[in-house]
Amino acid sequence: MSVPLNLREYEQRARELLPQATYDYYAGGAGDELTVRENEQAWAGLRLRPRVLVDVSACETATTILGQPVTFPLLTAPCAFNQLAHPDGELAVACATAAAGVIQTLSTMASRSMEEVTAASTGTRWFQLYCHRDREITKALVERAEAAGFAALCLTVDVPATGNRERDFRNNFQVPAHIPLANLVQYLPFGQDEMALHYYASKQFDASLTWESLEWLRSITRLPIVVKGVLTAEDALLAVQHGVAGIVVSNHGGRQLDSVISTADALPEIATAVQGQAEVYVDGGIRRGTDILKALALGARAVLIGRPYLWALAVNGEAGVTHVLQHLHDDLKLSMALAGYPKLSDIGPQLIC
Ligand SMILES: Cc1cc2nc3c(=O)[nH]c(=O)nc-3n(C[C@H](O)[C@H](O)[C@H](O)COP(=O)(O)O)c2cc1C
Repeated sequence: MSVPLNLREYEQRARELLPQATYDYYAGGAGDELTVRENEQAWAGLRLRPRVLVDVSACETATTILGQPVTFPLLTAPCAFNQLAHPDGELAVACATAAAGVIQTLSTMASRSMEEVTAASTGTRWFQLYCHRDREITKALVERAEAAGFAALCLTVDVPATGNRERDFRNNFQVPAHIPLANLVQYLPFGQDEMALHYYASKQFDASLTWESLEWLRSITRLPIVVKGVLTAEDALLAVQHGVAGIVVSNHGGRQLDSVISTADALPEIATAVQGQAEVYVDGGIRRGTDILKALALGARAVLIGRPYLWALAVNGEAGVTHVLQHLHDDLKLSMALAGYPKLSDIGPQLIC
């Protein structure tokens, strides 16, 4: 069978391979999935203003993210239960990202523990934190992330409750019992009943979290904190005031509040407001090198991809993720060459109509 040419072909192939309910869990979003669709459409709707007769014989994509060198400005987004796509799950993503020279963000809800991922990976990793009502559990997760050598904490702030994912209700979707909540298993009182574990975890997320909670988090860790799930300049400024190192402009891939602003539309006001006081990243609907170029032009330092690496994992495990990362890297370099911008530092709003 031929190797997929692009991320859409990976999705089609994954759809053929995965059980329908798993495909729906990955692909779906909240409500009418307006935001899922608009995330992709918003990047597609932006037009570029290329320059010509620029020497683009060498396009340079290497940069840093929170001081860590990366080969190009991309991270894998935290996604729960990578083992639903492939038995190697998060370990395959760890190896593929390390080999590609980009950063992996491991979910609190991962199916491989942070210690297992650390043992498998030589790359830079961030830990995505869901703040638990039981602060002792949160503290324990933070301490473990530090001990395991994670480079940053990525605090997800758009899940005071789980979004209305109707596909999952229709399918009565349940994570199979053999796929564990690997980071949380030791804090759960239910023994081997995995479904009870998942239920418990979803009940554990702290809906009373506020900006003050960030102060508490900062007081218990020396790691830089990145907040994920910001969509307005107002919140971006509050994040800066509370000392974050980075902000991920994200609507959780359209899985939380349906009909919120697309991330491509939210990014410019946030980048303008932040004025370099924190690094700004964006995710949601990034599918092409041109999407990365547009995100950088609108003020992002890097992008995150979610579903595309899950499709690749489902199609071909670690090799699939490696291929998708290589494909996006090549596509970014080609887009920079054709747009007449061989250096990341020259890419700016003038590139967008
Ligand atoms: C199956 C799935 C699981 C996810 N799990 C998490 C999670 O555990 N924590 C989190 O912060 N975001 C989670 N997200 C959101 C992603 O981190 C990211 O924001 C989103 O997928 C980006 O959009 P994209 O899929 O269009 O690239 C998940 C997304 C998907 C598709």
